[in-house]
Amino acid sequence: MRKPIVVGNWKLNGTEAANEELVSGVLSEMNALAAIDVAVCPPFVYVPQVVGLAKGTALGVGGQNCSEQSSGAFTGEVAPAMLSDVGARYVILGHSERRALYGETDEIVSEKVKAALHAGLTPILCVGETLEEREADETEAVVRQQLAAVIAGNGIKAFDRMVIAYEPVWAIGTGRTASPEQAQQVHAFIRGQLESHDAQVAQSVRIQYGGSVKPGNAAELFGQPDIDGGLIGGASLMAEDFLGICRAAADTVGNQ
Ligand code: 13P
Repeated sequence: MRKPIVVGNWKLNGTEAANEELVSGVLSEMNALAAIDVAVCPPFVYVPQVVGLAKGTALGVGGQNCSEQSSGAFTGEVAPAMLSDVGARYVILGHSERRALYGETDEIVSEKVKAALHAGLTPILCVGETLEEREADETEAVVRQQLAAVIAGNGIKAFDRMVIAYEPVWAIGTGRTASPEQAQQVHAFIRGQLESHDAQVAQSVRIQYGGSVKPGNAAELFGQPDIDGGLIGGASLMAEDFLGICRAAADTVGNQ
């Protein structure tokens, strides 16, 4: 049985005051969410603040990106060991916004995964197809290639220390969620690809769904056999919405 994991990706949002209100709202229900893992990923500058707010609780904190470099003349970059140093446990890597807007290739993402693992972080590796790719029936080929690069660079056993997030690009921030069947199909495909390398790793790796998850559609998505929680954008910015999604994930424990 895989423990579901729900992570809030705050993207480019937050102020010290807003973060404090949001985190205290989430923490008010953490005790009822012991069956799942919950984490939030604020912008870099707020990671220490949120780590401080979450101290002594089960709420995890992560970055939204990190450098593949560990130190040196790389202006503007943040090393994964710096995230660990300030108390982060996770790092989102290969998000489609980074791939599309900041030119991150599969090879760069694989290098970042390696650096993050080396620093003791849990990478949340994002994969997913664009609308054009889905309409051209290329979903599986795209996801296969995104995963293959990380397997080639890090080995299959690295996935024992990672989380995967399937995020169809056409569902991100659009209000257009993949149907539970569409999502399940790709999740099963991902697990199958890992299984061809290592059955134990495939069975234990957690695969989150991301893309317009809301309290109203979370239960159906999380009820699918290969969906192990969610990576949440917009709905993670309101404590009540985020908690509604977390509750839906917690409700699946024991029901399967
Ligand atoms: P939305 O939940 O806003 O669609 O964003 C999903 C996402 O990109 C999480 O990483």
